Amino acid sequence: MKLMVKESLIKNLSADVLVIPVFSDIENNEKLFLELDNVLNKLLTRTIYENKSIAEDGKLHLFYATNRLKLKRVLLAGLGKIDELDAEKIRLFGGKLAGYCKANSLLDVSFLGFGYNLKNLAIDDASQALIEGFLLGNYSYAEFKTEDNGKKGGKKKKEIQSLLFVPQVKSDVKLIDKVLKECEVVCRSVTLVRDLVNKPSNIITPALYTKEIKKAFTKTKVKVKVLEESAIKKEKMNCILNVAKGSVEKPKLVVLTYSPPKAKKTIAFVGKGVTFDAGGINLKPSQWLANMKQDMGGSAAVVGVMKAVAELKLPVKLVGVLPLVENMPGGKALKTGDVIVAANGKTIEVENTDAEGRLILADALHYATRFKPNYLVDVATLTGAAAVALGSKCTSLMGNDQELIDGLLKASKETHELAWQLPMFKEYDDDIKSDIADIKNLGARGEAGVIAGGVFLKNFIGDNKWAHIDIGATAWTDRPRPYVSKGATGYPVRMLVKWLKEL
Ligand code: BES
Ligand code: ZN
Ligand code: ZN
Repeated sequence: MKLMVKESLIKNLSADVLVIPVFSDIENNEKLFLELDNVLNKLLTRTIYENKSIAEDGKLHLFYATNRLKLKRVLLAGLGKIDELDAEKIRLFGGKLAGYCKANSLLDVSFLGFGYNLKNLAIDDASQALIEGFLLGNYSYAEFKTEDNGKKGGKKKKEIQSLLFVPQVKSDVKLIDKVLKECEVVCRSVTLVRDLVNKPSNIITPALYTKEIKKAFTKTKVKVKVLEESAIKKEKMNCILNVAKGSVEKPKLVVLTYSPPKAKKTIAFVGKGVTFDAGGINLKPSQWLANMKQDMGGSAAVVGVMKAVAELKLPVKLVGVLPLVENMPGGKALKTGDVIVAANGKTIEVENTDAEGRLILADALHYATRFKPNYLVDVATLTGAAAVALGSKCTSLMGNDQELIDGLLKASKETHELAWQLPMFKEYDDDIKSDIADIKNLGARGEAGVIAGGVFLKNFIGDNKWAHIDIGATAWTDRPRPYVSKGATGYPVRMLVKWLKEL
């Protein structure tokens, strides 16, 4: 989709539709139509003044434009009370708008920017939310669609071609242009992550995933190194090797580095990359197997974040460590009761082969400590228990450094990628004690599953400041929202990029 910002008189605009945001609780809507064509201005102002319900939140009214205009349609978009407006409301509206335009074949879209009297919101924040919602709401995963909705003889859905943002105040052009470019980068990363995670596991095995990652970073300053099985053996990363044993697909460890010249801080990310999680010998029941191609969502998010940061040229050094495996049952598969010596020397009793994420992360976290990061952050679809604890719209967050956690929570609030901190009381350490090894990979039966995952990982972080982001509940959704499509969500890319920007 082509994105532009340009100051223009309405009468000079040619597009399939001009979207005009309107509000229901201001005395005189005229203020919102500063530079509108005079005739149109009077008509709209009067209409809304006489019938305030037109501007209620979520109301859309499509008009055919007169032949005095080059526009084909005008869409009055109600945003409700201006006093109650916030960035998330606008983001949701942007998502809904994209869906509406697509469904009605309005493919060249112009949007009349917000006037100067948004009371609670800066114009750049409001514009950012709108563009973000629109770009993300426009996403659909169509790689394998040959026909519309699978109907024979149908056509592939038409895509939105362009969004032109028309600010009402001349001086906003530069500001919004900056916002727009940034949104484009971040949303491209989010949709890349959605694409990677939505890909079926037969076309994104560890080997093919490595190729996709290399492709994603061509033309960027991010270096991609791939450790093959032999190198993984040399590093004594037995946890990764053991999880991969049941599959014919060989494990890979991808190491990404972005090292800009002026960087003062180093952040190491570790991302879970299980391209399919069958559970291993502890085979998952059918209903849980269904969407387990999503289990590389943490690694995909790290790819997305690093791509966005490199494109935005943020001055922070980033390392990404991504263990890629398939977790399958098989003649050579890891078994319950087996003991593994992790790369850092700790011994682990395997109580459940389906708790494989923490095993591969153990070795990857230890590997990442060699980069001596200021912060170590892992992202993983680690537990189903995350959805039990916080529901499917909120990410579980934990760690050992409150300043780091607070920074992440702030970014979460600002991007509305919801997250909440869970405790790591030392009492929980007892839950993963093993009779025969240092620790086991399962917590107390039926208790605090998310926390047990975090408590386990804590054994492999050395003395680093660390955060653990469990996206087991949020990487995937079966219930789409206006700017979060069904399937992969692309969480928590926006939150992490925001955090790195503010670091
Ligand atoms: N990949 C799963 C967690 C998961 C479940 C992510 C559902 C997304 C949606 C993970 O490897 C797993 O199987 N976890 C087990 C842990 C248990 C065996 C301690 C779980 O959550 O049931
Ligand atoms: Zn599992
Ligand atoms: Zn898993």
